[in-house]
Amino acid sequence: MTFARIAGTGSYLPENIVTNKDLEKTVDTTDKWIRERTGIEQRHIALKGQTTVDLAEQAALNAIEAAGIDASEIDLIVFATSTPDKIFPSSACILQARLGIHGCPAFDIQAVCSGFVYALSVADKFIKTGSSKKALVIGAEVFSRIIDWSDRGTCVLFGDGAGAVILEAHEETGILSTHIHADGQYEDLLHVPCGIASNYDQVKAGKAFVEMKGSEVFKVAVNTLGKIVDETLAANQMKKSEIDWLVPHQANLRIIAATAKKLSMPMDQVVVTVNKHGNTSAASIPLALDVAVRDGRIQRNDVVMLEAFGGGFTWGSALLRY
Ligand code: ACO
Repeated sequence: MTFARIAGTGSYLPENIVTNKDLEKTVDTTDKWIRERTGIEQRHIALKGQTTVDLAEQAALNAIEAAGIDASEIDLIVFATSTPDKIFPSSACILQARLGIHGCPAFDIQAVCSGFVYALSVADKFIKTGSSKKALVIGAEVFSRIIDWSDRGTCVLFGDGAGAVILEAHEETGILSTHIHADGQYEDLLHVPCGIASNYDQVKAGKAFVEMKGSEVFKVAVNTLGKIVDETLAANQMKKSEIDWLVPHQANLRIIAATAKKLSMPMDQVVVTVNKHGNTSAASIPLALDVAVRDGRIQRNDVVMLEAFGGGFTWGSALLRY
């Protein structure tokens, strides 16, 4: 049997850091409120002109180096983002050219905060079916560009960044299962209510901003993530105690803690970066994964669960033996 195994991870954060104290100066909020309600202390924000693909390129180069491969060996690029550099070509194609790769399939996936899990799920299927041997899977965002910086309900939550993994075909171990879902009926609870084909005037006016009914999203997220944990364990006939690490989407420390509780998992087995990164949407899981791999927490053969929930609504999980 062929598995898709993570051969290397990489990430990149813009240098510019915005703290809660900085935001106190621009909106009616406090460091205390943000920490207590979300766990966020600071976030990285891209500089003017710094794009999603700029961040992704650095993350990809770091992952390629960690995997010990040459970029020319990559035969698939799947790029999760909701903040692409251009309407087209896809960010995956732009990145492909930057990496000097020619000819392999390259495409974007748009599932907001669940984007990386969606991308991983798709790349896993390419590898399992023999269509790909080495895939580059990316989550990268400059969410700061779709934030209304005068809306305290959203501007304190998000940050920019990129994370990447190289998946390679492996005979023994790797991704054990992936589970992805969507339910479009919740569109109005979390969305950017304009685009190219609707309300384009809002885009032209520079007002394509995230709108979120936070507390309603919170409730659905906690409930849904509890269910996806059960689904993932059942599909693998695995007990909670067999999971070594939870690498959740980093939206809110209270949501993360609720999922850890569902898994009966102490917080020291949960990778938390939301305090330093904020919510980087599709980038949050590969960023957190890279942090925990590089600091030595996640070791080869550890069982790792990834889970995410985001706009759509979309949600998903992946269980892997690292
Ligand atoms: N500073 C101070 N007060 C604030 C702020 C702020 N930054 N933001 C909101 N408040 C106020 C509200 O106005 C409200 O005041 P009121 O009681 O006088 O009306 C009060 O704080 C409570 O507001 P709630 O929205 O009920 O606060 P809650 O505890 O739900 O926390 C939060 C808000 C952090 C947004 C939370 O609901 C959350 O994390 N939701 C889920 C987000 C998520 O997971 N999104 C999915 C992924 S993102 C994606 O896919 C793009």
